[in-house]
Amino acid sequence: MHPKLLNLHAATPDKEFIALAAEVLRAGKLVAFPTETVYGLGADATNEQAVAAIFAAKGRPSFNPLIVHVAVIAQMADYVEMTPLAENLAAHFMPGALTLVLPRKKDAKLSWLVSAGMDNLAVRIPSHAVAQSLLREVGRPIAAPSANRSGSVSATSPLHVLESLGDKVDLILGAGRSPIGLESTILDITGKAPIILRQGGITQAQIESIIGTVELFSGHTQTPTAPGQLQSHYAPNAHVRLNANGAENDEAFLAFGPEMGIKGGKKRLNLSDRGDLHEAAANLFAMLRELDTPDIKGIAVMPIPETGLGLAINDRLRRAAAPRE
Ligand code: TXA
Ligand code: MG
Repeated sequence: MHPKLLNLHAATPDKEFIALAAEVLRAGKLVAFPTETVYGLGADATNEQAVAAIFAAKGRPSFNPLIVHVAVIAQMADYVEMTPLAENLAAHFMPGALTLVLPRKKDAKLSWLVSAGMDNLAVRIPSHAVAQSLLREVGRPIAAPSANRSGSVSATSPLHVLESLGDKVDLILGAGRSPIGLESTILDITGKAPIILRQGGITQAQIESIIGTVELFSGHTQTPTAPGQLQSHYAPNAHVRLNANGAENDEAFLAFGPEMGIKGGKKRLNLSDRGDLHEAAANLFAMLRELDTPDIKGIAVMPIPETGLGLAINDRLRRAAAPRE
């Protein structure tokens, strides 16, 4: 028996822990691991039962497909039809916080459940040293959603994983906090024009600087045709109130930038008192979790600028604040 949580060195991961995790994955079990965006709940993407176990552990609807993670760009062509556009984007942003949606190869040796029976597949190459070592060691594609219960706040530390999925996961590789703190940006390049399905760690401006204007998927849906866009998502238990310039005494207050005499709040945290969007992104999910206790009526959040990473932060906050089903 191995312990549930193994803490690794984030930059130079301990080889014996990586070897153990790879063995657990090859046996069809679930391993949570750190990436630069958020923690992932990994399973062997070639093993239908292992992928099914992810959906069961997260309480995730099986129409919602998973991202397949590989170690290097050359591996992508085993699973998706690469195009010059895909090669160009991969060369600029992979490894990193970009996920590409591409046509799934007909003969891809992958579970069907992983792409929810659809013709398209989402692929990502994480840059985090632990994720990289694990992918190289296991030698198979790894399906990994964020390591949280479906619909709730993503995990950015091993303790978050332990809290939300501790009894469901076979092994957790811990390596401190996820440095970016927001999920990857999902770019669908299967249609006539590239479209961002989810804003995330790579900004729209960064993508546009390489390939020109891209569209932003603006709607939301509860149906499988445009997955990943559920209106209510990333939601804490407490009600979330946006663009707040103060808090009631029974609310928690989540500030951004200088607070300049803003009052109220039973508990107060600041995403970044110097108004830095990268710092705010890295703190967002951890602070939402910390403020989300039963003794508060809701969480009041100060306005965040709609630029750069602020766009992805605001996207997550709007979904956190959206009406629940
Ligand atoms: O940063 C990330 O992307 C993290 C880390 C662990 O890699 N993963 C992650 O996975 O956020 P998940 O499952 O929590 O979110 C992936 C989103 C889902 O909303 C899903 O609907 C969408 O990606 N997605 C997956 N496959 C897709 C596909 N073939 N077409 C469109 N959307 C897809
Ligand atoms: Mg998720």
